[in-house]
Amino acid sequence: RWTMGSFIEESIKEIRARVGNRRALCAISGGVDSSVAAVLVHRAIGDQLTCIFVDHGLLRQGEAGQVVRIIREQFHIPLIHVDASRRFLNRLAGVTDPEQKRKIIGEEFIRVFEEEAARLGQVDFLVQGTLYPDVVESGTATAAVIKSHHNVGGLPEDMQLELIEPLRWLFKDEVRELGKELGLPEEVLWRQPFPGPGLAVRILGEVTPEKLEIVRHADAIVTEEIRRAGLHRQIWQYFAVLPNLRSVGVMGDGRTYAYTVAVRAVHSHDGMTADWVRLPYEVLERISSRIVNEVAGVNRVVYDITSKPPATIEWE
Ligand code: XMP
Repeated sequence: RWTMGSFIEESIKEIRARVGNRRALCAISGGVDSSVAAVLVHRAIGDQLTCIFVDHGLLRQGEAGQVVRIIREQFHIPLIHVDASRRFLNRLAGVTDPEQKRKIIGEEFIRVFEEEAARLGQVDFLVQGTLYPDVVESGTATAAVIKSHHNVGGLPEDMQLELIEPLRWLFKDEVRELGKELGLPEEVLWRQPFPGPGLAVRILGEVTPEKLEIVRHADAIVTEEIRRAGLHRQIWQYFAVLPNLRSVGVMGDGRTYAYTVAVRAVHSHDGMTADWVRLPYEVLERISSRIVNEVAGVNRVVYDITSKPPATIEWE
């Protein structure tokens, strides 16, 4: 039986032997898998590893800053932070179909990643945070593909990179344990699942800067209140959605015509099925009153009380 300590030592030895004095790349998303993989590989080969963080501008509040803080400042891993939000927003302008949005984001992600990688000169390896269940599920972990439900899209196949997958024998809970051993903070290790296309699929219809601002702010309030209530570890996912919907409200002497925000919280084991969470009324009340008071442009909050099936977890 192996211990986490011996797993780390063995992995480091193996990675060093394989990489030699060559270089590796890692696409960082802010999620637990890619972060743990990057930190482990960095322990093995130091600054022969470069991380690329393609920031599509569709992340939650504070998330991009957190990635930079942890990877660059805490672990001193060479990190290229590409703020590509403009590019993604431009390409998403006028697009309303959910699958089209996903496709555009996936393509743009690869394009930005390739451009950055091309600047680095000779690189031979690509680090991926593939887990054991992914290996089993896809049957092949050797194709240079990041599974679309884990990340934004595939990575370029014609880059001819050899894969390093240091987590391919581990389950999620073991990755968390490993990450803890390596010194990664709790908020990364216990981050809730977040779709690769980010907030773009939580805004129904066209993604605009104004709508992004609203959903991001509302989402931050949902997160804060769920945490404050001490429920964050028990709930699979909790977030705000911005349906493409405005309704009449009243403020002071006047009528308003503003957006509705939907709040979603679900229990799940694997995302395949889900049950809506019976949140305490007091928590719902705080979330609702804070959103309408603090988020400009919103006058109504509803709670999604549908399970999966027949609904999905996300609204798009
Ligand atoms: P649904 O909405 O299909 O979601 O019930 C199941 C799980 O998958 C996540 N999800 C995605 N993850 N890219 C991702 O990386 C996507 O396009 C995507 N769509 C849904 C969702 O958050 C949930 O955990």
